[in-house]
Amino acid sequence: MTEFDGLAESYDKTRGGESRGAEYSADIDALLPPGDGPILEIGVGTGVVALGLERLGRRMVGIDLSAPMIARAHERLGNVVARSDAMRMSIGTGTVDHAISVWVVHSVADPVRHFEEAERVVRPGGSYLVCLAQRAAPDDEIGNLIAAMSRRVDERRGAARPRGVTIEQVTGWAGTAGWVGTVHNFDRSWLSTPGEELEAIALRQWPALRELDETSIEEITRPVIDALLAMPEEVGMRRGTVEAIVFRRGGDRR
Ligand SMILES: C[S@@+](CC[C@H](N)C(=O)[O-])C[C@H]1O[C@@H](n2cnc3c(N)ncnc32)[C@H](O)[C@@H]1O
Repeated sequence: MTEFDGLAESYDKTRGGESRGAEYSADIDALLPPGDGPILEIGVGTGVVALGLERLGRRMVGIDLSAPMIARAHERLGNVVARSDAMRMSIGTGTVDHAISVWVVHSVADPVRHFEEAERVVRPGGSYLVCLAQRAAPDDEIGNLIAAMSRRVDERRGAARPRGVTIEQVTGWAGTAGWVGTVHNFDRSWLSTPGEELEAIALRQWPALRELDETSIEEITRPVIDALLAMPEEVGMRRGTVEAIVFRRGGDRR
C-alpha cells in the first residue's frame, strides 16, 4: 500500500484532471528543449500531465509507486508506464532525454537518493524539471485557507518532514546529487465552488491528512470547513503560482 492508493479513484476529480494536465504540460513543454527523444515522468500519477505532453508531440514514459494511480495512467497512456520507485527506477542508465515530476519530490522518502537516481537515468546534457506544489495567490481566499490547513497538518505531524517544501530545500537535495537548478514561475487560474473544496476535505484528498487521527483532523480542518460553509455556493476563480525548477548537471554546458 502507498499513501496515494486510496486517493486514486477521486484524484482526477479533485485535482483538475485533464484540463490541469493540459495547462501544466504547455508550461513544461515551453521549458524543455525541443526534441523527440523519450521524456520520463516520475510520479506520473493518473497520467494527466504526460497525456498533455503527448498531445504536444512529446514521447512520454512514466513510473509511479502506487498501483491504483499507475492503473489509471495505463488507461490514458498505454504500455509506456510502469510501477516503480523513484528511488530505484526500472529505467536504463542514460536512456531518457529529460525527466519531469509534478508534486512528487516532497513525497519521496529519501529525496537525495531520488535526485541521484534521476541523474542516472537522464542522458548527459539532459535536464530534470521539477514542479513543486502550488502557492496560493494572495487574493485566493480558499487557497490561503487550504495553505493554512496544510501548515497546521505539518505542525501536527511534528518530526515528519514538512509537506510544504521550499525551493531552497529541493535545490539542496538536488545539488547533493550534482544538479544545478534554474527557477521559473507560472501562474494559473481555475474555477471551483466551496462545495467542491468541502468534498475534497471530506475525501481526505491530502495524503498527510490521512496520517492523523480523526480528532486531529477535525481540529485542523474545522476552520477551513466553517469558512467554506459561510461562503455562497457559487463558482469562483482560484489562483496560484507553480514553482518549477529546471535542473541540469553541474558540469553540463548551458
Ligand atoms: C500528488 S501526486 C502527483 C501525480 C501527477 N504528477 C500529477 O501531477 O497529477 C504524487 C504522485 O507521486 C507518486 N509517488 C510518491 N512517492 C513515489 C515514489 N517513491 N516513487 C514513485 N512515485 C511516487 C504517488 O504515488 C503519486 O501518484
